[in-house]
Amino acid sequence: MHRPARPVTTFDPTLTALAADMVATMYAAEGVGLAACQIGVDLALFVFDCPDEDGTEHQGVVCNPVLQLPEGRSRQLDEDDEGCLSYPGAFVTCARPDEAVVTGLDLNGDPVEFAGDGLLARCLQHETDHTTGMVFGDRLSTRLRKKLRKQMEEEAADFPPGWPVVQRALDT
Ligand code: NI
Repeated sequence: MHRPARPVTTFDPTLTALAADMVATMYAAEGVGLAACQIGVDLALFVFDCPDEDGTEHQGVVCNPVLQLPEGRSRQLDEDDEGCLSYPGAFVTCARPDEAVVTGLDLNGDPVEFAGDGLLARCLQHETDHTTGMVFGDRLSTRLRKKLRKQMEEEAADFPPGWPVVQRALDT
């Protein structure tokens, strides 16, 4: 998962089926977002279903996402717990800008844009990171990265190898 994913260039029923599979996997694992690389597919694409600061749910699919973050005075960091379906059961504090905008393409290859605050801002940043070969552990201090690893080890018994794909299989 530590390399940039291939851009999506073909917008066909195979892509739509992949996105549907990703959504089902995300729900099965009770996540708020999932990138294709997390289910072993090398494409720059993610799905999400995530509440914003007000609790309003937002759903979407973004191919070839590009992130825009606030700069200068409008840049405020939000320190909150963050988790990842690729680090099941582990949550540690990660500081990120409290607002984010993602542009990209939908499943038809048409432009889309999603903007949000709260957990949605965190989710859009986290999932875009996945498509560029970054996981949120990479954004942590050495101390917090150790904490994340320790939590993962403690939780390992509850999450079989192959998570989150394996959970999808158990549900269906
Ligand atoms: Ni993740």
